[in-house]
Amino acid sequence: MTQTITVIRGDGIGPEIMDATLHVLDAMQLGLQYEDADAGMAALEKHGELLPQATMDSIRKNRVALKSPLTTPVGEGFSSINVELRKRFDLYANVRPARSFANTRSRFGAGVDLITVRENTEGAYSAEGQALSEDGETATSITRTTRRGSERIVRYAFELARRTGRKKVTVVHKANILKSTSGLFLRTARGVAAEYPDIECNEMIVDNTCMQLVMRPEQFDIIVTTNLFGDIISDLCAGLVGGLGLAPGANIGTDAAIFEAVHGSAPDIAGQGIANPCALLLGAVQMLDHLGLPDKAARLREAIVATLEAKDSLTPDLGGDGNTMGFAKAIASRV
Ligand code: NAI
Ligand code: MG
Repeated sequence: MTQTITVIRGDGIGPEIMDATLHVLDAMQLGLQYEDADAGMAALEKHGELLPQATMDSIRKNRVALKSPLTTPVGEGFSSINVELRKRFDLYANVRPARSFANTRSRFGAGVDLITVRENTEGAYSAEGQALSEDGETATSITRTTRRGSERIVRYAFELARRTGRKKVTVVHKANILKSTSGLFLRTARGVAAEYPDIECNEMIVDNTCMQLVMRPEQFDIIVTTNLFGDIISDLCAGLVGGLGLAPGANIGTDAAIFEAVHGSAPDIAGQGIANPCALLLGAVQMLDHLGLPDKAARLREAIVATLEAKDSLTPDLGGDGNTMGFAKAIASRV
């Protein structure tokens, strides 16, 4: 196989966790080729812009990118690069698995194994229609939900269930109150669900979902929901399994997909070689799945699990005294 991947090393701890991740991928001898591309502060320093055209071209050509966290400069005139990438490539599905691991600060033992599929391009996060009255006393914003946007995200969730052998999709909504927007999403979801009689489908209102997730997370398999609810729920789920150090995410569109860690560039520990590479490595697991290599994805995931179980070379955030590359080597020795 010769698959080229756009590699964005990012800012802060980004280069450190990317080195670690590529070390493990290399140990698997998958024949992957890497094409480096800059984004974020690294790109601003080198090329004078946060998201250079060359980076866009690389992602468009290779269709798959592995991306470390980027620092978005604080201040006027800089929009989030992650949001920009989502928009430019129409990365409509944000896919975040949450599975319990040994030796992490998880409250639920081994009981959590779910995936949140969040609509990534519309809903309450549309840039349009955000307004503040002239006197500054009243703010309004428009929530925009389309049948097309709802249908493709729900279909993605059901296809994911089929592909990965999962049994149930929970449609999370607030159609009882948000009758137009959430109502359209729910009705569309019901239509799609009818095409997948082999997958169980249930509906749950978002506030109840939050309580259920905390009390009985094992009842969930795949959750599909709109942008704002998905943003909040996916972080809640990351918390269920021990926090951001173990939370990967994929942004998937029709023409491109970007795999990443959910956490940021962690400037407080950058350059010290102690960042936990697991989240980006789990992003690489999602990437291998996406590339049609489910066996390799499973092997990588099992190596990560085994290393956590053995408490081998864990980084300080996991209570160990290891370092980023040492941890990566421990994982690489198990792939
Ligand atoms: P953060 O996730 O970078 O850090 C929060 C806390 O978690 C810090 O104490 C950090 O040391 C720790 N942490 C994060 N990842 C870790 C890892 N792999 N190993 C060990 N500890 C880890 O969030 P923060 O501080 O709010 O944001 C820092 C920068 O990152 C900002 O510029 C923000 O815009 C950017 N950011 C970028 C994201 C992306 O590119 N996907 C996502 C979130 C934030
Ligand atoms: Mg979020």
